[in-house]
Order: sequence, then structure tokens, then C-alpha cells
Amino acid sequence: MYKKLKKLINNSYSPISKFKVSSIVIDENNNEYSGVNVEYIIPTISTCAERNAISKSITNGSKFGTIKEVHILSINKDFVFPCGLCRQAIFESSNGKAKVFLYNQKGEVKEYLISKLLPHAFSKKDLKNV
Ligand code: THU
Repeated sequence: MYKKLKKLINNSYSPISKFKVSSIVIDENNNEYSGVNVEYIIPTISTCAERNAISKSITNGSKFGTIKEVHILSINKDFVFPCGLCRQAIFESSNGKAKVFLYNQKGEVKEYLISKLLPHAFSKKDLKNV
């Protein structure tokens, strides 16, 4: 996986921050979908690698809620955690179950559950008690 992320990160389009990120998500059928961050001159419409990978999974027919793994690499030497927006997207697209794998430049890996990275997540069940 690290090798794939390392190759993919070259496709990051990040002229503003110069901070490259790549991500690969895996769904319940073991299909893999890749994403990189893409930056625009209007910063608020830039998108993270993780959410681009999740969007690609849906675009290609993966069922929403069935992501089981999210793999992330950035150009930072150290492990980089997903931003808050991506934590929510990972939570929802995995029904709160995804394993998140962070890679550093040496190819070392750290593994977390999304439920640990986003405790007390806002979720579908919160929409019901109205
Ligand atoms: N970024 C990601 O793509 N994923 C993360 O987990 C953290 C941040 C991107 C967004 C922006 O293009 C750049 O990194 C700097 O924030």
C-alpha cells in the first residue's frame, strides 16, 4: 500500500500549500479507490485526498457506507491525521467502522479506528430524535 500511495502522491495538485497528500480507500468488496488533494485559487473549494477517494468510490459504483479501510500518506516526514471534515466523511462512508492507516515517509504505519478519531460523531441516528 505504501508503494501505491508514494506513486499516487505525485499527482497531488497543491500549488498553494505545497502540501501533497494521497489516499486510497478500500470497500467491502476489496475494491480500491484513490484520491489526491486538489487546490483551487479559491481555497474554500479545495478538496482533500481522502474525500476525493471516497467520492471516486461512489462514482464507480461502491455502496455508500461500506468503506472498511482508509490509507493516507502526506509529504510531511511524520504521520498526518485526517482533517475534521474528512473524519466526518470517513465516519459516514464507513458506517462508523473504518480503520484508518497513516503512513510516514519511512513507510511505517499507524492504525486507528475512525470511531477513536471522531468520538461522539454526528450521525444518521441523530437525525431521528426530532
Ligand atoms: N489535506 C489533505 O488532503 N488531507 C489531510 O488529511 C490533511 C490536509 C490537504 C488539504 C490541502 O490541500 C493541504 O493538504 C494543506 O492543508
